[in-house]
Amino acid sequence: MALRNIVEKGDPILRKRSREVGEVTDRIRSLMEDMVETMRHGQGVGLAGPQVGVMRRVFVAEPEPEQVYYMINPEIIEQEGLVEDTEGCLSVPGYYGMVERPQKIKIRAMDLDGNINEYEFEDFAARVMCHEYDHLEGILYTDKATEVHMLSEEADEEDAGEDIE
Ligand code: NI
Repeated sequence: MALRNIVEKGDPILRKRSREVGEVTDRIRSLMEDMVETMRHGQGVGLAGPQVGVMRRVFVAEPEPEQVYYMINPEIIEQEGLVEDTEGCLSVPGYYGMVERPQKIKIRAMDLDGNINEYEFEDFAARVMCHEYDHLEGILYTDKATEVHMLSEEADEEDAGEDIE
């Protein structure tokens, strides 16, 4: 595994729609393992292809420690409710914002073995998945946030919320 460079806001790569993955190759598997390493290194809980400069519909997420999801060609097939909470993004370092997301979602995606699975997520995990999914559409949380704040040195980490990605 290797760390990849994280693309930051301002780079047009983050604004493009990513392309579907045709076949899960070793190259895709290796990319996604690198993405997990890069996500953890940045203390994030999710990372999407475009954030490492790869315009493919893939993201990794770890909403709970050691619970890693590898999502290839994900589709959000159901969503329910709305909750507003804090979010951050590894591509927008130093900031956090308030974003409304579905309380519950159902998502369909291919895994590293090429199998298609359906998952249900609620609350924080649903938020992480929706945030990552948006990256594949070229959308950043700052587009949807009602407020965006700078993390100051004095800011209490607890108040700043968790870094989604
Ligand atoms: Ni992000």
